[in-house]
Amino acid sequence: MRIKDKNTCPYADYCGGCQMQGIPYAQQLNKKEARMNQLLGRFHSVNPILGMQDPYHYRNKINASFAYADHRVICGNYVESTHMIVESKDCQINDEKANEIIESIRVLAQKYRISIFNEDTLKGGLRHVMIRVSSSGEIMVVLVCGSMSVMHLDELVKELKKKYPEITTVVLNQNNRHTSMVLGNQTKTLYGKGYITDQLCGLDFRVSPKSFFQVNKRQTEALYNTAIRMAHFEGKETLIDAYCGTGTIGLLCAKHVKEVIGVELNKDAIKDAVINAKNNRVDNIRFVADDAGNFMRSLVREKKKIDAVILDPPRKGADRKFLDALLTLSPKKVVYISCGPESLKENLAYLTKRGYQIREIQPVAMFPFTNHIETVVLLSRTGEKPR
Ligand SMILES: C[S@@+](CC[C@H](N)C(=O)[O-])C[C@H]1O[C@@H](n2cnc3c(N)ncnc32)[C@H](O)[C@@H]1O
Repeated sequence: MRIKDKNTCPYADYCGGCQMQGIPYAQQLNKKEARMNQLLGRFHSVNPILGMQDPYHYRNKINASFAYADHRVICGNYVESTHMIVESKDCQINDEKANEIIESIRVLAQKYRISIFNEDTLKGGLRHVMIRVSSSGEIMVVLVCGSMSVMHLDELVKELKKKYPEITTVVLNQNNRHTSMVLGNQTKTLYGKGYITDQLCGLDFRVSPKSFFQVNKRQTEALYNTAIRMAHFEGKETLIDAYCGTGTIGLLCAKHVKEVIGVELNKDAIKDAVINAKNNRVDNIRFVADDAGNFMRSLVREKKKIDAVILDPPRKGADRKFLDALLTLSPKKVVYISCGPESLKENLAYLTKRGYQIREIQPVAMFPFTNHIETVVLLSRTGEKPR
């Protein structure tokens, strides 16, 4: 039941961001656990969900969009499935400093009369801002604009840097296409290094504007530690980190196994991953920029012996190409990290009909106040010892 009290976000009725606003956090966890039991309970019992002590202000990557309303610059989230913007200035799930910076950018855009992008004509300047905050407090601001030259943007950047010394880099990105993607193809660093360094489970990770990086540090550490615990490595394994992003999981597993190969489609993320390996002095890992399914097929052709696979695909799950190659490689252990419960259910049904058995299911509450659920599942070959 949705309750409105002093803790309920004032934008809850309009903003599409949080579907579970007004539901006490303990109840949110119960609902998520019930949903996972309903979806996956037929495969195996589901562990109690790992929740957060403090479920507020956990998002360290925030996107906001700009528009005009009555000649005023406004900035916030799109109302779900529309192009209307809700000005959610003190959003309860975003990092608080990022909320403050976004509001400052809005005020500066108004002050310097910076043109705002028009979604219909695909013309104009400021369209979105993306902010990433690292756990050590470094901040990256990506200004997404309709063109690479926007009048008075330099003044905005100068004033912003002065007000927030914790902003270590500012990047300009051009996106003038008709798309729901935030970032376009062209990028130019206006200030600093063009990336930030974040910390997870004791390692440093360089994160570029376009690389995927989990948005909730505390729960990401819980998620990765769960995956490593489930995998129960013995030190001799060849491990595939599929859909590896900036190499986080593979780099954390490297000290527990013989060798790791990470595969990822996004070339920027692979560049980050290679540098992350070097910076963290991990030398038993290599990375391949490719479609994960194609890469798994190439391992089948090479008859490479693979002992374990950790996969962390996007919401739509892994495709048949990937799953069939996985089945042929037949690793002893598979740890499936999923942010898409429905695709997870489908993929698990496919694997369990073809020689794998589920040994453990652990939901993790990565995104309080939203419907989203992250899950870690351990599979091993049917009929063999679970670990
Ligand atoms: C949920 S993220 C996981 C990233 C990483 N494991 C982490 O925890 O930060 C999914 C990743 O899959 C990548 N990806 C999407 N489709 C892919 C494909 N067909 N082959 C390989 N990687 C893909 C995305 O670029 C993204 O980095």
